[in-house]
Amino acid sequence: MQTLIVYYSRTNTTKELAGKLQENFAADILQIEDQKKREGFLYLLKASFDALTANVTLINQFSHNLEEYDLVLVGSPIWAASITPAIRTFLLGNSEVLPRLAFFVTHAGGGSGRSKKQFKKIAGQEPLAFLSVKDDEVKKDDESFKNKLAEFEREIITNFKS
Ligand SMILES: Cc1cc2nc3c(=O)[nH]c(=O)nc-3n(C[C@H](O)[C@H](O)[C@H](O)COP(=O)(O)O)c2cc1C
Repeated sequence: MQTLIVYYSRTNTTKELAGKLQENFAADILQIEDQKKREGFLYLLKASFDALTANVTLINQFSHNLEEYDLVLVGSPIWAASITPAIRTFLLGNSEVLPRLAFFVTHAGGGSGRSKKQFKKIAGQEPLAFLSVKDDEVKKDDESFKNKLAEFEREIITNFKS
C-alpha cells in the first residue's frame, strides 16, 4: 500500500506525530508550508481569523505525484477550532486526485470535532480513520498515546480493506 503523509506544522507538534506515523506506515512524507507570515501576536490573530473564516492561503509547490498513492494521511494543527488554511488549501486544490484519506490533528484541548466535519466537506470523503491528540500527549509519548496511535493505524487498515 503506497502511503503518503501530508502535514502542516508551525511549531513541530504535528510534524512529530507525522514522523511517528511515517515510521509505522513506511510512508513518503510531504510537509506543506504556508507562505503567509504566521509568527507574532497580530499574525497569529490573523492566523486564527483565516482558519475560522475558511480562508485559503499560498502553499509551497511539491513534486509528489498524488495519483501514485493508495492512501494519504493528512495532518493539521487545530486553529480556532478549524483546519489550518494550509491544509484547507492543499485539500481544495487536490481533492480530484486524492486517493483514500485518513486525518490526524493536534490541538491544545478543543475544536477537533469541528475540524473532522470540515475535513469531510473539503475533501469530499469521510476519512478512513480520525486521530485527535493534545500537543502535550505528543510530547509525553506515553502508553496511552501509543495506544491511540496503534488504534488509528488499525482502523485505517481495517477500513481500507472493507
Ligand atoms: C493561531 C492558533 C490557533 C489555535 N487554536 C486552537 C484551538 O482553537 N483549539 C486548540 O485546542 N488549540 C489551538 N491552538 C493550539 C495548537 O492547535 C496546538 O498547539 C498544536 O498542537 C500546534 O501544532 P504544531 O506544533 O504542529 O503547529 C492554536 C494555535 C495557534 C497558533
